[in-house]
Amino acid sequence: MGVLVSGGGSNLQAIIDASASNRIDAEIAFVGSDNPEAYGLTRARKHGIRTFAVDYKKILQELRKGRLEDQVPEDFDWESLVAKQGLRDTASGRKELKRYFSSRAVCEAALLREMEACPFDLLALAGFMRVLTPYFIDHVNVDPTRPRIMNIHPALLPAFPGNDGYGDTFRYGCKVGGCTVHFVDYGEDTGPIIGQKAFEIEPHESLDEVRAEGLKLEWELYPECIQLFAEDRLRVVTRVSTLKDDSEFMRKVVEIAR
Ligand code: GRF
Repeated sequence: MGVLVSGGGSNLQAIIDASASNRIDAEIAFVGSDNPEAYGLTRARKHGIRTFAVDYKKILQELRKGRLEDQVPEDFDWESLVAKQGLRDTASGRKELKRYFSSRAVCEAALLREMEACPFDLLALAGFMRVLTPYFIDHVNVDPTRPRIMNIHPALLPAFPGNDGYGDTFRYGCKVGGCTVHFVDYGEDTGPIIGQKAFEIEPHESLDEVRAEGLKLEWELYPECIQLFAEDRLRVVTRVSTLKDDSEFMRKVVEIAR
């Protein structure tokens, strides 16, 4: 498997430890980052794991100065991206949106080039703070029925997507917080849910305590979900449910084979 991180990498550490102690059947082929300073890269190097960084900040800064059109990967297809992402491609917003996605594709093409050297079955996002676009996702998910990018999110999705799950849970005054591991799809934190763990929030607890409690559960949940993938037990299926009045609705669920 490969892992992408942006920061401290405590989830990466949990995966490294689970792999080293044979609690999961996983070998980490590489750890990549959008941030060359990420401490997660240092953790990986300590364990002799190949690392790389694609400096998003620097690339995006340079693209703002130069001609973006010259850098966009040849296989970047704007029209199909608009359709996949369900974007409203209005004339006014078009230029800005196209710029946003084209510049991300430049960074993502660099990530993909780095990853090419190390084949992998599963890509785990562990605190990777960049949104991945359909350009990247489709290069990794070559079989659309078998997603292979996982993410861990610090809230009980679909509540509190975005980058401060524990903060949002705490500020809302929730009595229960939690974390979620899901497959990545084209939306932000919207993909099919693989596993969740929850904990109670007591009135006297601080946000720091809530974060610490949540992280501890993340370190258990992520290796568990990775092991289910390693055992090839995860299937994304569409289930049709019928209500009392005979109306039907569809839901996408991850089934865990026994
Ligand atoms: C975790 O809370 C994870 O859920 C979120 O970012 C944080 C990363 O922490 N996506 P770490 O870098 O693994 O310590």
